[in-house]
Amino acid sequence: MSKSDIPNKNTAFAPVFFTDTAIQEAIAKEYLSIEVTTECNSNCKHCFATAGLTERTSLNMETVRSAMLEGYELGYRSIHFTGGETLLWPHLMQALDEAFNTGYESAFINTNGSLLSKEKCAEFARYGDRLGFSISLHGPKKFHESIRDSGAYEKTTNGLKNALDCGLKMNIFTSAGKSLLNQLPEFVNKIFNEFPAVEYMVLIQLIRVHRDSYDLSDELMSPKDFIRFVRIASMLSLYGLKVKIMENPLVNVLTDLLNIKWLTPEPPISRAGRAVIMADRNITVYHSSRDSAGIYTPGSLKKILFSEAYKKYVAADCTICKDCPHMTICGRNGMTGPSEWFRDMHPEIPFCRRVLDEAGR
Ligand SMILES: C[S@@+](CC[C@H](N)C(=O)[O-])C[C@H]1O[C@@H](n2cnc3c(N)ncnc32)[C@H](O)[C@@H]1O
Repeated sequence: MSKSDIPNKNTAFAPVFFTDTAIQEAIAKEYLSIEVTTECNSNCKHCFATAGLTERTSLNMETVRSAMLEGYELGYRSIHFTGGETLLWPHLMQALDEAFNTGYESAFINTNGSLLSKEKCAEFARYGDRLGFSISLHGPKKFHESIRDSGAYEKTTNGLKNALDCGLKMNIFTSAGKSLLNQLPEFVNKIFNEFPAVEYMVLIQLIRVHRDSYDLSDELMSPKDFIRFVRIASMLSLYGLKVKIMENPLVNVLTDLLNIKWLTPEPPISRAGRAVIMADRNITVYHSSRDSAGIYTPGSLKKILFSEAYKKYVAADCTICKDCPHMTICGRNGMTGPSEWFRDMHPEIPFCRRVLDEAGR
C-alpha cells in the first residue's frame, strides 16, 4: 500500500454519543496531553509526531499555561507533556512547577532520553513520585539504531541509568513491528536484568500514519503476528516481567479467548475525556491522530471537549460490531468498537475480526 492509499478514519461507523455528564466524568479520570514542541534531536523513521511536517513548531508558555488552567478547571488532575523531544522545550521546568502549583497531582513526560543528564535528572527528582517518564527504546542496540542513528542506544541507556540513579519513575516505550517479535523475549529480559527498577516496558504496536516519510507496510503486524505478539507479552508477564501493550482492548479480548489473561487490561486509544493539544494547536484525542476536534485558543478547551465534533470522535460503534460473532467477548472486555484503520491498513474487514477469527481456528 502506498502513502497516498492511507484512508481517512473510517466514518462508516454510526456513533453512539456521550452526554455532557459522561464527558465530565471521563475527564476526571484522564490526563490532559500537550504536545509542547515538534522540534526533535532524533530522526526516528516511524515517528507519527513528525510525519509530513514541513516545519517544526513549539507552543509558548502562555498558551500552555492557559491550557493547563482550563484543563484543571474542567477536572483534569494529570498532565502529560510530549513532543517532538519534550526536553528540548525551554519552558518544561516552569510548566511542571506551575502545573503542581495549580493543583495537578501527577505529570508524565515522553522523552527519547538523550538529554537526561545527571544534572537534569537531579532537577526532575525534586518533584518526587508525582512525576513519571517514558523513555523510547526500540529494541536491542542494532535494532534501536536502525530506527534512530548510530550511538543512539548508548545515549538512551545512559539517560535511563541517570534517571533511575536519581530515583525517577521510568517506563520504557518500545514500538513493536513484525521484525522485533523474534527478539522481544530476550530484549525484555535483558532490560529488566540491567534496569530492574524500570516500572513497565510498554509495547506499542507499530502503526502507519498519514504522510509518513517511510513506507513501513512490511513492518505492520498481520493478524497472525499480532496473536504471536500478545502471546509473547502475556508469557513475559506471567514470567514476572512488567510488560504492557499500550491502549488496545483487542489484547483484553484475545487473552480472554486464548485463556492467557496475564496482561493488564487496556483501554481504547480513542476514548472520552482524552485530549491532546498539538503544537499546531489542533485538539485531537490521541497523539498519532490527525482528526481535529477544533483549534485551541485560550478559553476554548471546554467548548471543544463538549462539542458535537468531540462527542462524535470518541463515540462507541453501534453498527459494525452488532453483526460480529465476537461481540459478546468484546463487550465483556471493554472493546466498544472495531480496531482502528491504522492497525494494518486493511480496514475492509476490521483487524480485530480477522485476529479473533484466526485465534478461534
Ligand atoms: C512521538 S514520541 C515523542 C516523545 C519522545 N521524543 C520519544 O522519543 O519518546 C512518543 C512515542 O511514540 C512512539 N511512536 C512514534 N511513531 C510511532 C509509530 N508509527 N508506531 C508506534 N509508535 C510510534 C515513539 O516510539 C515514542 O515511544
